[in-house]
Amino acid sequence: MRIINFGSLNLDYTYSVDHIVEPGETLDTGERKIFCGGKGLNQSIALARAGLEVHHAGMIGEDGEMLVDLCRKENIHTHYIWKVPGPSGHTIIQVDAHGQNSILLYGGANRKFTKNYIDEVLADFNEEDIVLLQNEINLPDYVIEAAARKKMRIILNPSPYNDQLKSCDLGKVNLFLINEIEGMQMTGEEDLSAVLDALTARYPKAGIVMTLGGDGCVYQDASRRFYQDSFRVPVKDTTGAGDTFTGYFIAGLVSGMDVRECLMVASRAAAIAVTRPGASSSIPTKQEVRDIDLEFERPKEKETKSES
Ligand code: RIB
Repeated sequence: MRIINFGSLNLDYTYSVDHIVEPGETLDTGERKIFCGGKGLNQSIALARAGLEVHHAGMIGEDGEMLVDLCRKENIHTHYIWKVPGPSGHTIIQVDAHGQNSILLYGGANRKFTKNYIDEVLADFNEEDIVLLQNEINLPDYVIEAAARKKMRIILNPSPYNDQLKSCDLGKVNLFLINEIEGMQMTGEEDLSAVLDALTARYPKAGIVMTLGGDGCVYQDASRRFYQDSFRVPVKDTTGAGDTFTGYFIAGLVSGMDVRECLMVASRAAAIAVTRPGASSSIPTKQEVRDIDLEFERPKEKETKSES
């Protein structure tokens, strides 16, 4: 079983700010750092650090050598990362005094996927393999369609959620990893339980994993719902925490862990990531995730469905 991740690779220009800039405001920033990022790259690194064999399919521009170098260093297979004319994807990220961020995304090379390229990559994979994708590349609809034709398991992180996803046949997705906002955008519901139930009604064969920020996370499928509380940690930068969670959750599933254990391990990994600056640079190793001593944020009474 291999994972092929069709994902973005971005240069993250990250500025520390006192507060996120307001419309019409000019704001002085503190230091600027350039990190390797992109939801695709971050998730590949999290998967690799969690111990999986990962193949990354993506595009860099003429300025993107550091992105592919990092993948090599992380033992990610880079054969399917192509260099194309023009700039790589990049972001302008503000991180405020509380570690919260705001991101401007320029797609660049990430939007140069073609159907031929996708077919060429998938020709090397089969129904025992998993396709992972996010929504920072073009043609996600074709990736889903082509992977489904090959009967591959499809995992989607529909992030950022936008109209491009409306052309995708999401009924072919086996597992969704989303955050609360994306859940609301996908369903039009506001209440957490209603969001989950709407997604399960719409995609009854899929598992749904939803992260809830400081309130933990939840897994639901047609017969089960499990909650996991978050851990209390000092938050420095939340960028990439969701990607860390995604990588560790998938790695747990693939290695045969029970869903509840996957939620726990992924939450531990994300808790470490928010204490560190940057996206890919904040992703912990498997050993760090195993060894760290963490306390729950707040033990809460949670509603549960049957726990079969
Ligand atoms: O999820 C975090 C990532 O989102 C950043 O690395 C940035 O590149 C944006 O794509």
